[in-house]
Amino acid sequence: MNSIGRFRLEHTDGQARCGCLQTLHGEVPTPVFMPVGTQGSVKSLCPMDLDNMGAGMILGNTYHLYLRPGDELLAQMGGLHRFMNWKGPILTDSGGFQVFSLSDLRKITPEGVEFKSHLDGSRHFFTPEKVIRIQKNIGSDIMMVLDECVPYGADLEYTRNSMHRTVQWAWKSRDFYSGETGKQLMFAIVQGGFFMDLRRESAARTCEIPMDGYAIGGVSVGETKQEMLDTVYFTAPLLPRDRPRYLMGVGKPLDILEGINAGLDMFDCVLPTRNARNGTLFTSSGKVNIKQARYRNDETALDPGCDCYTCMNFSRAYLRHLYMAGELLSFRLNTIHNLRFFINLARKARSAIQEKRFAQLISRYRNVEKEQEG
Ligand code: GUN
Ligand code: ZN
Repeated sequence: MNSIGRFRLEHTDGQARCGCLQTLHGEVPTPVFMPVGTQGSVKSLCPMDLDNMGAGMILGNTYHLYLRPGDELLAQMGGLHRFMNWKGPILTDSGGFQVFSLSDLRKITPEGVEFKSHLDGSRHFFTPEKVIRIQKNIGSDIMMVLDECVPYGADLEYTRNSMHRTVQWAWKSRDFYSGETGKQLMFAIVQGGFFMDLRRESAARTCEIPMDGYAIGGVSVGETKQEMLDTVYFTAPLLPRDRPRYLMGVGKPLDILEGINAGLDMFDCVLPTRNARNGTLFTSSGKVNIKQARYRNDETALDPGCDCYTCMNFSRAYLRHLYMAGELLSFRLNTIHNLRFFINLARKARSAIQEKRFAQLISRYRNVEKEQEG
């Protein structure tokens, strides 16, 4: 393999790892938290904000971008990077999650999935090959293969059949885009629900397929925290050590640290961006609900330990006012803070791993969570 797609493992501390992933749009130090920019924008931010907060890689979504503005338009515009003027790496999810969570009338066959658009009800058919073609048009640095994210509560037989179909789809994706290894990267996704035997089989079969990285999907779908942790701790060590490992759609700050502790490298979640827009802000001493009256005349920074633009320049009182008044700036300032909190969390994990003190870091966060529950 040439240098694009190469993952350099730098340090380990127990199962936790830090490293560096080479993409067409630059190197990404891991562990990394990737802000979600579903439709070609991280809601309320511009690329300058993302640069300033140190975002390493952002997410886009194949399902959304295919429906609107359309991947052919994106190709005409020179790809998503040029269209949105983001110069860093982009990972696109395959739509294998959104088709199953957003659209109606899904019909799954061995060839692919038929669905109705959540925008206008129009009918579409995704095959593994088509989803790769769309991601080629988008021009993302990392393409995810089409998969089925099995709903929580699915039985053993359904989950096994679905998992085998997802493995076949990953092979079809690889066969469709194989001579081009070393350009856009391709990651496959391990499924198998909450059945450990299926997770083991899915990991074994998926990791036989030559890919640039491997993901764990099918978690954060309504299971208990313990089921999620059991699945993640069980599956992570089954993935190749010399490839980046991505935990899809997870999660809360402590969940991300647990993922890192299990040996995973890449994370994304809508939590920091979505919560920012409803006034829930993450701080080093727990969550703050900025609409509470107690912040009305609070002149302190949102999180005195935070180095983001919001905390360096504005008071809790002002952030509360913006939120109460429905000012658009509220979305932007809150999002800048929450994302910086998640990005800093991954950076702190990285330093802790380098200095072999990751166990102390995670136990501190586990204690904060216990205190907040108790
Ligand atoms: N995002 C969160 N979970 C999943 C998953 O299982 N599959 C895909 N494609 N995306 C996800
Ligand atoms: Zn801040």
